[in-house]
Amino acid sequence: MRFAKAGRLEQLPAYLFQEIDRLKAELVAKGVDVINLGVGDPDLPTPGHIIRKLQETVEDPSTHQYPSYSGMNDFRISVAAWYERRFGVTLDPLSEVLTLIGSKEGIAHFPLAFINPGDLALIPTPAYPVYHAATLFAGGESYFVPLVREHNFLPDLDAIPSDTARRAKVMFINYPNNPTGATADFGFYESVLAFARQYDLIVCHDAAYSEMAFDGYRPMSFLEIPGAKEVAIEFHSLSKTYNMTGWRLGFAVGNAKLIEGLGQLKSNIDSGAFNAVQWAGIAALEGDQECVRSMQRTYQERRDVLIAGLRRAGLDPMVPKATFYVWCPTPHGFTSSAFTSLLLTECGIVTTPGSGFGAPGEGYIRLALTVGKERIAEAVERVQKLSF
Ligand SMILES: Cc1ncc(COP(=O)(O)O)c(C=O)c1O
Repeated sequence: MRFAKAGRLEQLPAYLFQEIDRLKAELVAKGVDVINLGVGDPDLPTPGHIIRKLQETVEDPSTHQYPSYSGMNDFRISVAAWYERRFGVTLDPLSEVLTLIGSKEGIAHFPLAFINPGDLALIPTPAYPVYHAATLFAGGESYFVPLVREHNFLPDLDAIPSDTARRAKVMFINYPNNPTGATADFGFYESVLAFARQYDLIVCHDAAYSEMAFDGYRPMSFLEIPGAKEVAIEFHSLSKTYNMTGWRLGFAVGNAKLIEGLGQLKSNIDSGAFNAVQWAGIAALEGDQECVRSMQRTYQERRDVLIAGLRRAGLDPMVPKATFYVWCPTPHGFTSSAFTSLLLTECGIVTTPGSGFGAPGEGYIRLALTVGKERIAEAVERVQKLSF
C-alpha cells in the first residue's frame, strides 16, 4: 500500500532537531559520553511554586473539562498585568490576549489564519524553522531576509525590494534571536513599524526569549513602540522563562483583529490549554520573579565559561546578551556541517550547524547552554584538544 504524503510535507526540509536527536541516540548507544549542546531545551526544573499550583488545581474537577478556546479569563488578565509591569504596555485581556498551547502552536497556526495561497511572507534566515514551514502549510510563499553579522543579525529593511515588500502580507521577526543570540533596540523596532506602515504589513514578533537575558539587559517588547499595536502580534512563551517547555503554555498579544483571527482558526483545531496548566501559569507570572533572575544568573555563568573556553580553543564566538545560544563562526576551512560532525565524532559534543537554520547560517554553529557549567567546562576542554 502506498500512502503518499501531502505535497506540503514533501516541500519541507527534515526537521532539524529530529536529525540531531537521531545522531545523538546513535552515539549514546555506542557508549559515548555525549554532551548535548544541541536542542534549546532548559535542563533546569520548573520552580516549585508553579508545580505546587498545578498539583493543587489538578485536584479540582472543574479543571478537567474543556478549557475555553481563547484561554481562561484569569490567565489572560494575569498576562495583561504582567505586560503592564514588565513592558509598561497596556492590553485589554479579553480582546488583545490569547492563550496558546506553547508559542510554537500559535506561530504555526498564525499563517493559516492570515495567509492566502500565493501571499508572500518576509522571513528571516537563519531562523527558527517554524515561520517558513507554517507559511508553506498555508500555501504562502517565503521571501527570505538574510541576517548577517555586518548588519548585527538584524534584517536590512532597505535591501528588501519595494515591489517585494508591497506584495508581502506578513513579516516575521524574532528578538532576542534564535539562533544568533542577537538583540534589537528601540531604533530597530521603530524602523520595523515604519516599514510595516509603509507596506501595509502584519508584523509577527516572536519574543519567546524576552526574559532570558544577561548583564542586566532587559529586552523590550515591540509593542512598546507607540502605534505598534496597529500592525503587530507578539508571541511569548512560559517555556524558557520558567523552565516549562513540557507544559505547553504560551500566549499571543497585540492587535485585536489579529488575535481574533488566530483565535477563530484555533477554535477549529484545538480546544485550548489545560486549565490547571493555566493556573500554574498564573502562579508563574504573578509569583516571586527571583526564579527568573536565578535562571538568568545560571545561563550567564554558563555563557561565560563557554565563551572563555571557546576562545582558548582558538574560536571567536559571539557573546549573546540574551537567549541561551552561542553563535560561533566555524574555524577556517570548515563548513557548518563539517565542524558539527567533527565536534560530534571527535569530542562527543552535539551542536547545531548554522546552515540548518538557513543558508546565511553557513559558516556558523549554534551551541545551547543547556548543561551545567562543569559539563560545559568539560566540553571546551575536549574542543581545546582538537587542532583545526
Ligand atoms: C524562537 C523560538 N520561538 C518559539 C519557540 C517555541 O517555544 P514554545 O512552543 O515552547 O513556547 C522556540 C523554541 O525553541 C524558539 O526557539
